[in-house]
Amino acid sequence: MSSALECHNARKVFYVKRERKNGSILSRLFARLIPKYKMVEAVDRLTFHVEPGEIFGILGPNGSGKSTLIRLISTLLLPDEGCITVFGHDVVKERFQVRKLINRVSVDAAFFKGLSAMENLSYTARLYDLDKGAWQDTAADILERLGLKTDKLHEPLEDLSRGMQQKIAVARALLTRPLLLLLDEPTTGLDPVSKKEVQDFVLEERALRGTTVVLTTHDMQEADRLCDRIAIIDYGRFVAMDTPGGLKSQVSPNGEDVTLEEVFFALTGKRLKDNGKPENGDVR
Ligand SMILES: Nc1ncnc2c1ncn2[C@@H]1O[C@H](COP(=O)(O)OP(=O)(O)OP(=O)(O)O)[C@@H](O)[C@H]1O
Ligand SMILES: [Mg+2]
Repeated sequence: MSSALECHNARKVFYVKRERKNGSILSRLFARLIPKYKMVEAVDRLTFHVEPGEIFGILGPNGSGKSTLIRLISTLLLPDEGCITVFGHDVVKERFQVRKLINRVSVDAAFFKGLSAMENLSYTARLYDLDKGAWQDTAADILERLGLKTDKLHEPLEDLSRGMQQKIAVARALLTRPLLLLLDEPTTGLDPVSKKEVQDFVLEERALRGTTVVLTTHDMQEADRLCDRIAIIDYGRFVAMDTPGGLKSQVSPNGEDVTLEEVFFALTGKRLKDNGKPENGDVR
């Protein structure tokens, strides 16, 4: 069987306008000699694969390229170089086939905020042409497993907490029964109970359906708990890729008890705070 996801030398570059500070005439003249745009290698020639049914974690500080990589896989961005396939389908040449196989949850999921959860899910069901009778049962099952109270499902989404909205985003992504689920920081900002409910749900979905999951996170415990393998990304490059145990033993060959947090620091020289921001600010 082919891999669920294959990336070969995937690269994405952005050109970002430089900030020009007001200063003396001389410094402004000097600034004109510097190009207006600087190049950011958001994803820097990444090569890796993910097996069917695997939960693959991508762990990295702010601006390290996690979301860009997820957008490339989900056909929302075009790679500048390299090739990405999802269950053998090329994300550029066969993007419509790929879209049928995947779904994505992002940290800032877009909704019709004035509509209720059920109305938003109904919109998704129509968009994906899901069976009328079946989608409501599937949605009810998913929402119950995520611990969402049914009385909240008919209130406008803007009146629900961020945690509830995030769970609805997870439910919406699962409604289409994707073979590859792309989770971009699905639990950032959630309280510990909601976080655990979402994590349990991801593990359950994989166990029930063999769903392949690519998950980005800043949360070391989450990566340790959920992922079969973890890639640590910094400046668009993987600085390490292994099982959680394998990563720990790379840093502590004597078998001392180390945390993934310590592994991350040893490999990147950076520490992550709870909100995901590295202590020395954005990496770029
Ligand atoms: N649309 C864009 N235009 C210009 N630059 C971009 C764009 N999207 C991302 N970047 C830049 O690419 C780099 C990687 O960004 P990306 O959003 O992939 O990082 P991230 O690891 O997801 O960060 P975070 O943890 O904050 O979500 C950053 O330097 C970012 O500023
Ligand atoms: Mg991101």
